Amino acid sequence: MGFNVAIDGPAGAGKSTVAKLISKEMGFIYVDTGAMFRAIAIYFLRNDVCPEDGAACEEACKNIDVGIVYDNGAQQVILNGENVTGQLRTQEVGDMASRASVNPAVRNTLLELQRKLARENDVVMDGRDIGTVVLPNAELKVYLTASSRVRAERRVGELKEKGIEADLDVTEKEIIERDMRDMNREVAPLKQADDAILVDTDKMGIDEVCTAIRNLIKERRG
Ligand code: DC
Repeated sequence: MGFNVAIDGPAGAGKSTVAKLISKEMGFIYVDTGAMFRAIAIYFLRNDVCPEDGAACEEACKNIDVGIVYDNGAQQVILNGENVTGQLRTQEVGDMASRASVNPAVRNTLLELQRKLARENDVVMDGRDIGTVVLPNAELKVYLTASSRVRAERRVGELKEKGIEADLDVTEKEIIERDMRDMNREVAPLKQADDAILVDTDKMGIDEVCTAIRNLIKERRG
């Protein structure tokens, strides 16, 4: 059994940035579960699967195989034998992932893969339901959050760096919509686990957040 760190929280809270840095520093594997849902979203988009049609989702999941490999420490997501890592991070794919992730068959398709990675490795795993459902016995659970405004500002900044202009109000509205869906679905909604440590990153820089989490890991690992 590996040492498991679960990081949950809403879109844009900084989970992946923090999880990547921590795992690299501490020699853990970083498992980005959102990327797995995004891979399923790619299959749905390509095959016109309606995520609100339960039977269609179930049928589609029978034809989906998601795998994870690591290339120089970077997670690569394999969808039915194809490396789709470069196609995951678009708004369209993110929205489809959020819609598809409401379906229990979609979640079950990924659950065993997520648990197997955590059994076999020391992991920092980020997502929405890691501390509550996927790894309820994780040695450390962190709930990372920030206000929707701050998360939208960060997202607009990231896009600007890539040369893409985005409107702050529109971006914040999209973030709030995604939060609502992720927090209010019936199966494995986004919520803070009872034993998770809340870290609000509104006024914290990445370094500060990483130091806090690193210290918690050291404390618990002994
Ligand atoms: O973290 P992300 O933006 O890559 O995630 C995309 C969507 O996938 C997110 O809006 C909800 C879903 N998701 C989930 O339901 N459970 C997870 N553990 C991770 C992501």
